[in-house]
Amino acid sequence: MCGIVGAVAQRDVAEILVEGLRRLEYRGYDSAGVAITDDQGQLTRVRRLGKVAALSDAVAASHPTGGTGIAHTRWATHGEPSEANAHPHMSGNDIAVVHNGIIENHQTLREQLQARGYQFDSQTDTEVIAHLVDWEMQQGGDLLNAFQRTVDQLEGAYGTVVMDRRQPERLIAARSGSPLVIGLGVGENFLASDQLALLNVTRRFIYLEEGDVADISRREVTIYNQEGTPVEREVNEASAQYDAADKGQYRHYMQKEIYEQPTALTNTMEGRLGNDHVIVDAIGNGASDILAKAQHIQIIACGTSYNAGMVARYWFESLAGISCDVEIASEFRYRQFVTRPNSVLITLSQSGETADTLAALRLAKERGYMATMAICNVAGSSLVRESDLAFMTRAGTEIGVASTKAFTTQLSALLMLVTALGKMQGRIGRDKEREVVDALHHLPSSIEQALTFDKAIEQLAQDFADKHHALFLGRGEYYPIAIEAALKLKEISYIHAEAYAAGELKHGPLALIDADMPVIVIAPNNELLEKLKSNIEEVRARGGQLYVFADQDAGFTPEEGMKIIAMPHVDDIIAPVFYTIPMQQLSYHVALIKGTDVDQPRNLAKAVTVE
Ligand code: M6R
Repeated sequence: MCGIVGAVAQRDVAEILVEGLRRLEYRGYDSAGVAITDDQGQLTRVRRLGKVAALSDAVAASHPTGGTGIAHTRWATHGEPSEANAHPHMSGNDIAVVHNGIIENHQTLREQLQARGYQFDSQTDTEVIAHLVDWEMQQGGDLLNAFQRTVDQLEGAYGTVVMDRRQPERLIAARSGSPLVIGLGVGENFLASDQLALLNVTRRFIYLEEGDVADISRREVTIYNQEGTPVEREVNEASAQYDAADKGQYRHYMQKEIYEQPTALTNTMEGRLGNDHVIVDAIGNGASDILAKAQHIQIIACGTSYNAGMVARYWFESLAGISCDVEIASEFRYRQFVTRPNSVLITLSQSGETADTLAALRLAKERGYMATMAICNVAGSSLVRESDLAFMTRAGTEIGVASTKAFTTQLSALLMLVTALGKMQGRIGRDKEREVVDALHHLPSSIEQALTFDKAIEQLAQDFADKHHALFLGRGEYYPIAIEAALKLKEISYIHAEAYAAGELKHGPLALIDADMPVIVIAPNNELLEKLKSNIEEVRARGGQLYVFADQDAGFTPEEGMKIIAMPHVDDIIAPVFYTIPMQQLSYHVALIKGTDVDQPRNLAKAVTVE
């Protein structure tokens, strides 16, 4: 979490830094700040509580000039959101530091530094870095040595950058557990925690690796590895577009991203599906060998990505006949697990930088998994670079904190993968493969159809205006879709929402049912429909308010206490993706009614790069 931007240039960099922060605001939006040094060594720091817009106004008013600067947008970990806790943090008037991640031994370091006479102005863990650099400089050596000695003392995760006003035209950065990328310009260089921040100034990037320290000036970038040896790192040409610059006709990024799903899904499938078959080689070099040998699938992810994994578990086992476990990354990484023979570890992530998922991947690589695969939306992200195979979801930049198109594109990628695996292992025959591929070809147009229900759902959302709780029910693959729907609603409307496998109701949650409890049911016309109808009756009998999103042929009629949203029939295989759309629209419209910040809900951030 948190976003970092830095620049060393001949021109004034204030606007570049602030624009970079705007693009990184999805990573945190509690407070923001910049520190800029001019070539006379005059350092100006501007910080503001709140969003980047507040900082932008302050920068416009104070006009800090200078070609070297660092900037940060914060998601609070240590210390409340406040101007005093906003980065950059300083030691005296010389050293300024920005930092993403968590310094776990900050308390010990703080006490040592206080004993040496340093005064702390913030409650953050970051401030220890600034004072440590200052201390180390007093012990001798230049900024680079002092910074290297500083990071040697840090425990935890960090992407951090230091600037010293006595050495204008120089930034030093270190990466350990929190991503940093260097953007190469002509006679100027940049850095950021995500290349998106810099796509308006360069398209050439170097991704720092774990343990790297980079010495960046206008004309030179020197990178040292963990051992302090200078190393060459590959220069990559960015393929990503900053296609989220404006919301176009939409009121929010989330709304825009909901409507982008037909195109995003088309992009995910492009070049990976023939008329009637999945192109296995398009999944990645060596994918066919790995898929042919796999005997078990272990999926690891967090949040919405985890929910996509839960849907895929049904598909892996029912379609491809291979056992599949799905686990939350923060649990997996800290428990004693048994690695199954020939198991493939699949990480799912929009950002590719989620700290827990990344840690789980690194652990799994030491623990004998046959292969690792990332299903991810961000090219060049840590997960992509560190996995044996990367299957990109191509959703395009997702800015809204609430994940929408990242989820549905993950589902379509997973369905292609399941089909490829089943085919390689002879468990999915030609007819079944044709059937799945045909359904996938129809997916974008089915999603277009689902989107036409927006008006009806907007009206329905009025019923939730005064609600504080909601229950979502589904069975089979629709149980994780219900979980995802509940996550969306709570995340952006702050309504407490839970999801249950409908068959589980009578084992406890039925006690919650009364006239104030809206119960949203996902009811496709499949083999579990009759079972689901019995569960619906259990709710009706107790006066629950039902909202049933049902297949038009499922035989529901609206009754007292039960509203029916009749959806067109779509193929069973793609129906979980299809039913996701009205759930997204419902949470979006409820959030509008509640007046919450749809794109940047309170307390959250888009890329969770701390554990
Ligand atoms: O980038 P990732 O997919 O790894 O992120 C995982 C979760 O943090 C993310 O899906 C989160 O749950 C979303 N905000 C939910 O909408």
